Amino acid sequence: MDSSVPSRPTRTRLDGLIGRLTAQRDILDEVCPHIPADGPVIELGLGNGRTYDHLRSRLPGRRIIAFDRALAAHRSSVPPEEDLVLGEIRETTCSYAGTCAALVHADIGTGYAEIDDQTVQWLPDLVARLLCPGGMAVSGLPLDHPWLEPLPLPDSVPVGRYFVYQLRTTRRPDRTGA
Ligand SMILES: C[S@@+](CC[C@H](N)C(=O)[O-])C[C@H]1O[C@@H](n2cnc3c(N)ncnc32)[C@H](O)[C@@H]1O
Repeated sequence: MDSSVPSRPTRTRLDGLIGRLTAQRDILDEVCPHIPADGPVIELGLGNGRTYDHLRSRLPGRRIIAFDRALAAHRSSVPPEEDLVLGEIRETTCSYAGTCAALVHADIGTGYAEIDDQTVQWLPDLVARLLCPGGMAVSGLPLDHPWLEPLPLPDSVPVGRYFVYQLRTTRRPDRTGA
């Protein structure tokens, strides 16, 4: 290899984190003004509470229900008790099916393919069932589901970094034929 040609620097985990956070901010900023006027917002993966804080800033007055295994948010970003649901998302969201959410933001990717491959088996259907027709989903993992229409990303977000969907107003038959 010609040593006078600088090689492309390796993409690091820091680059990946910056890309994910930038994508979250740019997508939430673009999507929030267009979500349905009614219905709560669902935050799957409260974590430190950074995206929760961004959502409540961009959607003042909107109810945001946040889910996580355990509370680990910065104290400035802890939801009110009635809007914080702790436990395994697959179990705790069951009683919220039909909640008719205007927006679901799912940030529960781990960066471990063996875990994320399992998550994408159940997350798309869970998200689809939480949304209102016309409701939007923003996710760090792909949500391949017949009810969810993929939407274009902001120019700043590379394809495959983050994902945006809208619940179809006319649903195609689901996988169970229901
Ligand atoms: C990347 S962090 C979320 C960061 C957050 N969006 C923020 O901006 O601070 C992912 C969170 O999802 C939670 N999580 C992942 N899978 C989960 C599951 N199956 N059930 C409950 N919580 C889960 C983890 O505990 C973790 O706090």
